[in-house]
Parts: sequence; C-alpha cells; structure tokens
Amino acid sequence: MKRELALEFARVTEAAALAAHKWVGRGNKEGADQAAVDAMRSMLNGITIDGEIVIGEGEIDEAPMLYIGEKVGLVHGENFTGDRAYASVDIAVDPVEGTRMTAQGQPNAIAVLAVGNKGSFLKAPDMYMEKLIVGPEAKGVIDLEKPLMENIENVCKALDKKINELTIVVLDKPRHKTIIKELQDIGVRVYALPDGDVAGSILTSVVDSDVDMLYGIGGAPEGVISAAVIRALGGDMNARLKLRSEVKGVSLENDKISNFEKRRCEEMGLTVGDVLRMDDLVKDDEVIFSATGVTSGDLLEGVKRKGNIARTQTLVIRGKSKTVRYINAVHNLDYKPAEIIDLVK
Ligand code: FBP
Repeated sequence: MKRELALEFARVTEAAALAAHKWVGRGNKEGADQAAVDAMRSMLNGITIDGEIVIGEGEIDEAPMLYIGEKVGLVHGENFTGDRAYASVDIAVDPVEGTRMTAQGQPNAIAVLAVGNKGSFLKAPDMYMEKLIVGPEAKGVIDLEKPLMENIENVCKALDKKINELTIVVLDKPRHKTIIKELQDIGVRVYALPDGDVAGSILTSVVDSDVDMLYGIGGAPEGVISAAVIRALGGDMNARLKLRSEVKGVSLENDKISNFEKRRCEEMGLTVGDVLRMDDLVKDDEVIFSATGVTSGDLLEGVKRKGNIARTQTLVIRGKSKTVRYINAVHNLDYKPAEIIDLVK
C-alpha cells in the first residue's frame, strides 16, 4: 500500500467525524451512525482502491451501506478508466465507535477505520469477544489460556512494574463489575471507560498514555479493528469469541442468538472459545489505521465548530513504518465535496 493512501484514509474518518458531530447530544444514536456511514462510504468511493468491507455495519440484509462484503473504491465506480495503479485492500470500519456517547454528548466517541492487504483481517461475525491487549514492551508475554492474574504478573515482570503501578482499561459494564473490584483489590489502577474499547486499546500502545493493558469483553468487530491498530503499533493481543448467552445470561432470546452465532462461526471456520492470537486476528504489519475524534476523549480532541469552520484531530498510523501522526485540520465546510456537504454542514 502506497504511503499516500494514509492521507486519503484520514480524509475518510474526518468526514465521518464531521457528519457524526452534527448529531452530538441529539439523543439519536441511529441518526449519528447513519450520517457517519454515508460520509465514510462516499469518501471511500472517491479513493483509487479496490476495497472490500470485511468488518462493517453488519451483513447485507441488515445494513444497506458499508455492509460486510460491500465493494468500495473508485475501481468499482463508473468513471474508473483503469489506467492508474491501485491497491487491493480489505477495510474494517466503525463509522462511530461510541454511538451512545455521541447521542448523549459524552466523551470518547471516534470515527475509525483500518485498512490491510487482501485477506489480512480475521472475518468474524458480529458477536462478543474477550480481549487482552498490551503495548510493545509486553509483547509476547500474554496468553489468554492462562488466568488473568498470571497474565498480570507476567506483564508486570515485562514492564518492571509493581502491581500497584499497573493501569488497566476495562469497559464499565455490569459484566465486568466483579473483575474491576478484584483488580482494584489487588492494587491495580482501573480506568473504567463507559464505552469505546478501540480507543481504550490504543491507549496501551501510544507514548502519551499511562495505560498498560486492556482487558474485558466487547464487540468482535471492534476487536478486529483493535488488533489492526495494535499490530500497527507493535503491541500484542489475544482474543476469544463469546456467545451472547455467556455474556448476557441464558434466556430464550439469548439462546436463539447464540445458536445463530455458533452457526456463523462454523461457516467462517471459527470455533467459539478458541484463543485467537495476533497472527489469527491480523496477518501482517502493513496496516493503515485512521481515527478522528467526534467528541473529545483520552485519545483525541473532538470536532470543534464555529459556523462553517470546523477543526478535527486525527490519529493516522502506518504499520509498516510504525509512524504515528496526529493531524490537526481546519475545514471550511462550504468547500466540501458535493456528495457530503449536506452531511457535514
Ligand atoms: P458502538 O458505539 O460502535 O456500538 O461501540 C461501543 C462499544 O462500547 C464498543 O467499544 C464495545 O466493543 C462495544 O460497544 C461493547 O458492547 P456492549 O455495549 O453491548 O457492551
């Protein structure tokens, strides 16, 4: 993948964040997500790539746009003449990670995508995933087959830290209540984020953060996006797919969903409960990752707007070179491409 593509993908998440920002605090998760999806799709279709969405808004019958299997990029458009070099890529998107935070005007919502060579991302169903993530200094010492406490000891050794110097991000969900208490009881500092484990994962692997590890159960699609960015940054991740009934409890409805999840896993050649390591999740380092803040958070500034002038902050990472760029941009919304102007203005 040519390095120039990094800027193209940054423009995609910028547009998605600007579109989502119009919906901040409006109490409408779906509206925010749809606007970001529309903006993201439109921008992706303007890039000279042969792209396929492998992690997206869902299967074709439940998501009209950016669905799994959707082809994106100029190469699929009517105007492509075929005379320019293009890359064949797989794309994992989460147009708004933190739809609830966006709707409620709360921190930590971002627009994200990760792009890799064809076949490099795990194709996983939309279900839950247990995740254990560390930064580059603890690479190779985690193992989800082992108890969490043993992993914590090994990470402490690798980082030369005492347990009370360790900081772990855990999503603040009822399912994590016990584990958060156990971690705090042994002296670990816990950052309990209400939502957004992609942003939480990145905090383990960037220099300007004191987070050492992320642990907990979140979405599998978000898990693959996290794996892509963590691989790009040189960190490490183990994961395990989880059935809804294991996470949310046994009920008629949850059992029905779990049976469907099991079937989808079988069709995709996956076994629920198997430990997935970094090479299973993302096959090589040649990843481009881009995230733009929608609302301000631990990772990025959110969109700031005065009239039709808007400022965005975007994190762009190239796995090949491991360069991390923060791009501050000032946009004049009157001059945006015709296809997205109504979405962002
Ligand atoms: P979306 O806003 O994209 O739905 O994701 C928010 C999020 O907190 C993810 O970061 C996390 O992986 C997932 O939801 C957890 O799911 P749940 O809210 O069902 O516990």
